[in-house]
Amino acid sequence: MNLQVKSFKEYQDVYDYSVIEPEKFWAEIAENFLWRKKWDRVLDWNFTEPNIKWFSGAKFNITENCLDRHLDTLGDKPAIIWESNDPEENHRILTYKQLHQKVCQFAHVLQNNGAKKGDRICIYMPMVPELAIAVLACARIGAIHSVVFGGFSAQSIADRIIDAECNVVITADGGFRGNKETPLKTVIDDALVQCRSVKKVIVLTRSRTPVSMLKGRDVWWEDEIKKVETSGQSDFPAVETDAEDMLFILYTSGSTGKPKGVVHTCGGYMVYTGYTFANVFQYQPGEVHFCTADIGWITGHSYIVYGPLSQGATALMFEGIPTWPDAGRMWDVVQKHKVNILYTAPTAIRSLMSFGDKPLEGKDLSSLTKLGSVGEPINEEAWHWFDDKIGRKKCPIADTWWQTENGGHMISPICNVTPTKPGYATLPLPGIQPVLVDENGKVIEGNGVSGNLCIKFPWPGMLRTTYGDHERCRTTYFATYENMYFTGDGCLRDEDGYYKITGRVDDVLNVSGHRIGTAEVENAINMHSDVVESAVVGYPHDIKGQGVYAYVVCPNMHNDDELTRKDITMTVSRIIGPIAKPDKIQFVSGLPKTRSGKIMRRILRKIAEGETSNLGDTSTLLDPAIVEEIKEGAL
Ligand code: WTA
Repeated sequence: MNLQVKSFKEYQDVYDYSVIEPEKFWAEIAENFLWRKKWDRVLDWNFTEPNIKWFSGAKFNITENCLDRHLDTLGDKPAIIWESNDPEENHRILTYKQLHQKVCQFAHVLQNNGAKKGDRICIYMPMVPELAIAVLACARIGAIHSVVFGGFSAQSIADRIIDAECNVVITADGGFRGNKETPLKTVIDDALVQCRSVKKVIVLTRSRTPVSMLKGRDVWWEDEIKKVETSGQSDFPAVETDAEDMLFILYTSGSTGKPKGVVHTCGGYMVYTGYTFANVFQYQPGEVHFCTADIGWITGHSYIVYGPLSQGATALMFEGIPTWPDAGRMWDVVQKHKVNILYTAPTAIRSLMSFGDKPLEGKDLSSLTKLGSVGEPINEEAWHWFDDKIGRKKCPIADTWWQTENGGHMISPICNVTPTKPGYATLPLPGIQPVLVDENGKVIEGNGVSGNLCIKFPWPGMLRTTYGDHERCRTTYFATYENMYFTGDGCLRDEDGYYKITGRVDDVLNVSGHRIGTAEVENAINMHSDVVESAVVGYPHDIKGQGVYAYVVCPNMHNDDELTRKDITMTVSRIIGPIAKPDKIQFVSGLPKTRSGKIMRRILRKIAEGETSNLGDTSTLLDPAIVEEIKEGAL
């Protein structure tokens, strides 16, 4: 079966087939990939344990699909185009041949430094091609990568390294983003004070900021490559993996305090990302695909690295941010590299929109043919601006709904195939069976309804477990509703059967498209010595989508209010990272609690949203007077 459907009629037919014959459908999709040995069974599954296996018995290596198989036909075509943070710095192009060679070299480096199949390797790097090279080299030797976004703190990195027992860390001296420079190696050094498992740290030179290199533990990327070159090590035959071997761990926030390591496996993830990339974006040979996400998030894993490369596409990788040195930068990048597909986030669109049309003047966006959005619900105003000003009404917008746990697009228009509707993720891709359920888990049939979004049949890209804690995977995703994967999102299905995601129904915030657990932020705030207790909720934010609002009980402050706010913010930065900093901190003398001691978040959410009259039933509160105080002090 072709990975791409070409008409809406074909979509409907293929969709029906995928529901009636899911195993046949996915086996036919999987035929489009390169396997050393085909699978023994397409699918084994139950959602009770859960136990999910796709293509088990199949032998292959994902990097042979992303690199080797293109060498004859696309060897001299660009695999990665890299644009620096600094507009003055030259861009870089890596052809498939060059990327293959660099991945092989770095695979040798990893092996020479003691890494082997099954090891967990932490990657904490800026958005440079070497990040993609590091990821692919891990996959080539069968090691499991755990990429940590550059905006996380030393403490967060340490938690992730300890959880996965990583033995190797790959980092850089520092990284650039906009006018900021992050001293990555120094952050790693702080993290590693707590991490006994790490034996080697490989450090790439990027920012030339001074770093301390520990003898025996720390080595320079460039020196190690030189050793490989002088010893004549060149090709690195890919290590054979089973379809169900782990490919990577990616940590994501949930409703409890501790982020969980979402585990993806080699075979299903490859098939799913390749398939969705080809189909949703209707990728055509030669097109330049620009996904603005960081590789530290799932979007970067799936749609900068694995999806595009398995399809022989050209992926543009951008080190900087859309608004630096000015709000026209993203359009400069599109123009300079003649980008065809632009895949970005509503928060970026709203931020660029806020500068008005001026930054667009004189920018040639005529190369663009397809647009995409991901990470949070896109509001209609932003959708129309994107359609109008960027797509010039000529480009379909794929509003792709999916999650770290899903591996790839789940509900999304297929470009030039599915009629779009502003603010709607539209229809499930072939192979995906969404259902809406009510609080009691009863399936809500028909159209013009809303409920909690679940998926009732497995798909190859779904998570297999949460690293080191399978029970947590079960309780988080498979225990809320029997025999279904629960997404944590609310959703409506309109009269046409089109899906619109309405946002999280659990205690997870979506700040600038980043998932942040309220419990995680509360834990961090509570670490501050003056804080007795806190409650964190989201509130509507013009650019970020949601902002972080913290109610903090701090009866004996050492400093004044303003300084204490800064102290708390700094604490959150140190414990989690700058991305989780509260936007607003309100000091309160207590929190609204039920007689059983549960915080009534519903009330706090309403107050944070600016609602003061319709607070609902407060009669079950232990101390209703506290609500009045909080209302009066609202920010
Ligand atoms: C939200 C990002 C509405 C949703 C790929 C989901 C969206 C969470 C959309 C996952 C969309 C993502 N429309 N909401 N198109 N895409 N979301 O794991 O709440 O970082 O559960 O994965 O983002 O975020 P994550």
